[in-house]
Amino acid sequence: MRDNGISWGDSYDLVVQRDDWFYQDYAVILRELADIVVAGTELNSLAVELPVGTANLTALLLEKRSVIGVEPSGEMARIARRRCPGLRIVGGWFRALPFRDASVDAIVSAYGLHRLSREDRIDSIGEMRRVLRRGGHVVVADMMFRDAASERALREDLVQKGAKTKLALLDEESDEYPLFSDLQIEFGRFGFSFSGKQRTELVWLFRAKLR
Ligand SMILES: C[S@@+](CC[C@H](N)C(=O)[O-])C[C@H]1O[C@@H](n2cnc3c(N)ncnc32)[C@H](O)[C@@H]1O
Repeated sequence: MRDNGISWGDSYDLVVQRDDWFYQDYAVILRELADIVVAGTELNSLAVELPVGTANLTALLLEKRSVIGVEPSGEMARIARRRCPGLRIVGGWFRALPFRDASVDAIVSAYGLHRLSREDRIDSIGEMRRVLRRGGHVVVADMMFRDAASERALREDLVQKGAKTKLALLDEESDEYPLFSDLQIEFGRFGFSFSGKQRTELVWLFRAKLR
């Protein structure tokens, strides 16, 4: 079920509505992301949402900004179009964004980055820099750990509490979870300023601005 999301389709919205450990405060976090994008962009700016999934965030963004969605899964795109009729959705991947250089004001991403390998993630940050205008933003909410020590501490805490289900879920899920501390360095190397905050035990929200 918790694969890369490519085949989730209709079941995805049932999962996020459960408000479980991974998707705790999902709706509130999406609203925060939308508010940050709106506050950081002009009225006539273009935001790209990646991956658009079932368009839960897009529906909020479209109230205030022009949005193009990027989504590799035809099934997810079909649901997104149903939710947001008229929404432009293009096929694409984190590491291959179908946009011209310096043509986008903001890139917003919810719960998509955590599945990328480190190598793909670094390529993706380069790709985001390519398509963003100077001064443009990347705004992300996703599962991650603060740093390696925090990941160890969380696991030890779960062991001590006998939280076997959570530990199993984490083992199944977190292979590629990024570290906030790595993202800060990686975005910094590509010329972004970077700030963020922890939102739940597993989810962080960050904003990277291209200098
Ligand atoms: C957990 S869902 C998140 C959907 C949506 N952003 C949201 O917040 O509800 C993960 C999404 O990532 C997409 N995906 C998987 N691998 C991807 C990749 N390499 N590049 C872009 N999108 C990808 C899936 O098709 C799916 O729509």
